[in-house]
Amino acid sequence: MSDMPIYTATAGTFYGAGVGPGDPLLVTMKTHQLIQSADVVSYIANTDGHSQARDIARYSLAQRSTPVEEVAVPMPMSTDRILANAAYDQAAEQLRQHLQAGQSVVFLCEGDPLFFGSFSYLLQRLSDDFNCLVVPGISSVNASASALQQPLTLLQESFVVVSGRHTDEQLRSALEQHDSVVIMKAGRARPRILAMLHATGRWQDGNYLEYIGRDNQRIINDLDNLADEPGPYFSLFVILRQERPA
Ligand SMILES: C[S@@+](CC[C@H](N)C(=O)[O-])C[C@H]1O[C@@H](n2cnc3c(N)ncnc32)[C@H](O)[C@@H]1O
Repeated sequence: MSDMPIYTATAGTFYGAGVGPGDPLLVTMKTHQLIQSADVVSYIANTDGHSQARDIARYSLAQRSTPVEEVAVPMPMSTDRILANAAYDQAAEQLRQHLQAGQSVVFLCEGDPLFFGSFSYLLQRLSDDFNCLVVPGISSVNASASALQQPLTLLQESFVVVSGRHTDEQLRSALEQHDSVVIMKAGRARPRILAMLHATGRWQDGNYLEYIGRDNQRIINDLDNLADEPGPYFSLFVILRQERPA
């Protein structure tokens, strides 16, 4: 008999559980075990009802011995914070009902829950009233380095994470001041990011990755082969110096 510890979801507790960047085998044991014991499993879904986080956790959900109540939180694909906040308000209210009824709620989060994660906004809304716990997940940043088989940082190298939603000046400053740079949320910002890589002389240092860990994963190490047009939301750039410390 296995003596592996079992992590069980506790009544009335709200969990943020990271499921990693895309490969279902990168779901941690702890998140897998939480999914087995949760009363309610929740996740962000797009307007078509598809959820990246649920899809990553599909094998863990399929291994449950009993069906689980699922709560999909529809999130408009928009940068409008008013729309997003309304969706979080509504979701928090719905999850609150389950928590008040003494159910455990496990909120599945793509990557890590507290790294650019939607879970943060639900935590803000629920943490005053309920016990909340977070299980970390492997972030897309860590997964990108593994996919490239390149260290993110060595010795004295500096490292910064920015977003395609930052201004040109913020992107320029990151690219000029840091050795290693990850640019998240590259999707629609791709043409602007490519222009900044040219402008700062970092073109040769750039790598582009999309859908890391999924069947449609794409990695481009030579940016001359990347179309200068908007791309999918699940994409990022990893910029690493050609000359690295020995
Ligand atoms: C809202 S953030 C979520 C980050 C996530 N919590 C994490 O820990 O990686 C979404 C951004 O993460 C990046 N991302 C997440 N998963 C990815 C994947 N599998 N492949 C490429 N980029 C990914 C993309 O830049 C995307 O726009």
